[in-house]
Amino acid sequence: TRRSLAQSAAMANAIKNVTVIGSGLMGAGIAQVAAQTGHSVTMVDIDPVAVGKAEKRIADSISRVAKKKFGEGDEATKFVSESLSRLRTSTDAVASVESADLVVEAIVENLKTKKELFSKLDNAAPAHTIFASNTSSIPIAKIAEATNRLDRFGGLHFFNPVPVMKLLEVVRIPETSSDTYDAMTAWGKAMGKVTVECKDTPGFIVNRLLVPFMFEAVRMVERGEASPKDVDTAMKLGAGHPMGPFELMDYVGLDTGKFIIDGWHKDYPDVEIFSPSPLLEKLVSEGKHGVKSGEGFYKYKK
Ligand code: 3HC
Repeated sequence: TRRSLAQSAAMANAIKNVTVIGSGLMGAGIAQVAAQTGHSVTMVDIDPVAVGKAEKRIADSISRVAKKKFGEGDEATKFVSESLSRLRTSTDAVASVESADLVVEAIVENLKTKKELFSKLDNAAPAHTIFASNTSSIPIAKIAEATNRLDRFGGLHFFNPVPVMKLLEVVRIPETSSDTYDAMTAWGKAMGKVTVECKDTPGFIVNRLLVPFMFEAVRMVERGEASPKDVDTAMKLGAGHPMGPFELMDYVGLDTGKFIIDGWHKDYPDVEIFSPSPLLEKLVSEGKHGVKSGEGFYKYKK
């Protein structure tokens, strides 16, 4: 019947083999959740040291997830070992896409580097492979230009920490086919995420609201209206946010925040809320990048 044909077509399109390029916070988190949810995953990074660090982070995080799901005992141990058995690593991006149904890119936020990568992968990957970028600030359409598969290209934007945050933004460019969009959405659900549909606009949904919020918080401090600590306390206790804007900026990385705003400022010079902040510039230039560097707006134990 028509229905079972459609169903078997959907099954054939289901994403089973996933290649994640980049083993930073986001790449490792995406690879981890894909492995936990039964996908066969290859996590790639050109830097073997980064791969080693990511494997350690993943092992720690899977244990936390297992403990939360199953407590202590055999079931938790089985969940950890089965998840890890589905995860391979590689330093060769081109070789790792040969049997991929989906490639998720989470490398450095640099358009040229991303385009070079996708151009190479476009030649190496099977025709059916869907390409997606986890970029938070570069237009998906500009990255997709490097390939001949605009209909099989989109954005899959996750949130840090990936194993905990329930949202996945599924971004379509005008050329993204409905089959591709449906497959990306179905995969997001298979990953245990709730998906929202986004257009290829700056910041998609979450960062378009979150980044101006964080920058307005910095401006309040620059204007001498409140201290970072009081702003954080106010937003946690007065607006129910799990972290205040300064804690969140330290958590996401001040370098990342600066990178996002600089890119948008360049593309939209007239939007005042996208203009650079002297205080953030100063902290970043001093190497104070937040939790990961030991200091940002706050100091952290290394
Ligand atoms: N792996 C697995 N589990 C983790 C984890 C990780 N990396 N981090 C936290 N968890 C689990 C913990 O085990 C804990 O489980 P429990 O409920 O069974 O105890 C639970 O999550 C809560 O963790 P904690 O008790 O350590 O700490 P909190 O309750 O303060 O929660 C938080 C931590 C989930 C990070 C919370 O503070 C939060 O939601 N913060 C806001 C995060 C946010 O807004 N992220 C989006 C940033 S924007 C972004 O990523 C986009 C990019 O483009 C910039």
